[in-house]
Amino acid sequence: MYEIPNLPYKYTDLEPYFDEATMKVHQLKHHQTYADKLNAALEGHPDLAEKDLIALIRRADKDIPVEIRPTIVNNGGGYLNHSFFWEILGKPAKPDNKPDGTTIGVALEDQFGSYDDFKKKFSERALALFGSGWTWLLIDVDGKLSIENTANQNLPEEKKVALLVLDLWEHAYYLKYQNRRAEYIEAFYHVIDWKAVDAKLKQSGITPAEIKA
Ligand SMILES: [Fe+2]
Repeated sequence: MYEIPNLPYKYTDLEPYFDEATMKVHQLKHHQTYADKLNAALEGHPDLAEKDLIALIRRADKDIPVEIRPTIVNNGGGYLNHSFFWEILGKPAKPDNKPDGTTIGVALEDQFGSYDDFKKKFSERALALFGSGWTWLLIDVDGKLSIENTANQNLPEEKKVALLVLDLWEHAYYLKYQNRRAEYIEAFYHVIDWKAVDAKLKQSGITPAEIKA
């Protein structure tokens, strides 16, 4: 059984950027629904339920019976993507919330020119996403960072490691920001937990390349 993880912060901790009402409905309703539908689809398939979920989704065409395949891919992806998203958010440590003093902060400067240049590129990519999906910061095995979009609840590329993600489904921002996606994206930079992102980089075992922009 897949259960939604507890948040490592309070629902009010990301205010005023991500509001309490949105955080609650997002985790307790949307994320929970992905978990519930995933569990329901896996019922009666103990062989699938015990497999690693990421690996299962990546091999969906081979390993999942066609009648439950879209349900598991969509809801399994939704379950995983949200679990990741909660991990890289946190209460702002300081007003500008820059990743100073972290390896990821240095890597962003090395590869994008400056933190502000990274933000600009990430925001442009997020604004360019049509419909619902996610904008990711990924690192490849050669240490090169990239910003990429995935549609719906698709997972990022298998050969890259995810470091950061932004949920761009309307349910993530509509209560507070309505159609103002750009304002929501700008608010996101205030609630990134850069220490958590840095930990994901260290966990990957990949050393960021020094690519001067
Ligand atoms: Fe979401």
